[in-house]
Amino acid sequence: VRWVDEEPSPAGTEERRVQFAQLLGTAIANADGRDQLRAARARLLTQGDEARRHMVRDLHDGAQQRQVHTIITLKLALRALRAKDPDAESLVAEALDHAQRGHAELRELAHGILPSVLTRGGLRAAVDTLVARLDLPVEVDAAVERLPAAIEASAYFIVAEALTNVVKHAHAKHAAVTARVEAGALRVRVRDDGIGGARPDGSGLVGLADRLAVLDGQLRVESPADGGTLVAADIPVPG
Ligand SMILES: Nc1ncnc2c1ncn2[C@@H]1O[C@H](COP(=O)(O)OP(=O)(O)O)[C@@H](O)[C@H]1O
Ligand SMILES: [Mg+2]
Repeated sequence: VRWVDEEPSPAGTEERRVQFAQLLGTAIANADGRDQLRAARARLLTQGDEARRHMVRDLHDGAQQRQVHTIITLKLALRALRAKDPDAESLVAEALDHAQRGHAELRELAHGILPSVLTRGGLRAAVDTLVARLDLPVEVDAAVERLPAAIEASAYFIVAEALTNVVKHAHAKHAAVTARVEAGALRVRVRDDGIGGARPDGSGLVGLADRLAVLDGQLRVESPADGGTLVAADIPVPG
């Protein structure tokens, strides 16, 4: 560091003081960064537990209930069949309906946890699938190679949360997603032409920033009050 070797002179002392202040600023920023990282980790842990509780509740109230109904209805159908009761057919139809709904609910739940298309096909394929499910025109330019799983998952969650926000809050006519690896980082951008005014302290956006902080990445949200929102994430790619 240059200021250590400088000649002590009145001007030099002043310069040293300024530079020392800058260094101190960096040190404080680092300590701040450590505290922030610790807070981010704690929030991620809490969120993970909360997500598990949510999942168990969804399973219990959804697919598990459907299975119970399927089993009970099939038992009734079997009894009716044995008794040559004409109700048997409608009972089998009812059981089939419960089974099919349960199957659909399980698929939705699994998709919400982590879409298999992401693991199989990577970010591009997963974003295409996500966009196809939305009732909004979204332009996608995300031709990236396969990346480490944690990076792909984080990038996917960013796009998913940002696009969910566009649908929920933005009143936008159009959105665009870009992803590219540039200068050692995966750069993900989600833009919309909606009303703007996104608050970066909401649980969704804070969750994204936490995830990125743990990966040494960064989240930037630009959302002026006169409209349009940009969610920009940069994630370092190792190697
Ligand atoms: N694309 C957007 N356009 C307009 N407002 C947005 C957008 N994204 C987020 N917001 C606003 O910022 C808030 C915080 O977003 P977020 O952290 O995702 O929380 P949540 O979606 O759970 O409300 C939202 O409640 C919404 O008011
Ligand atoms: Mg949200």
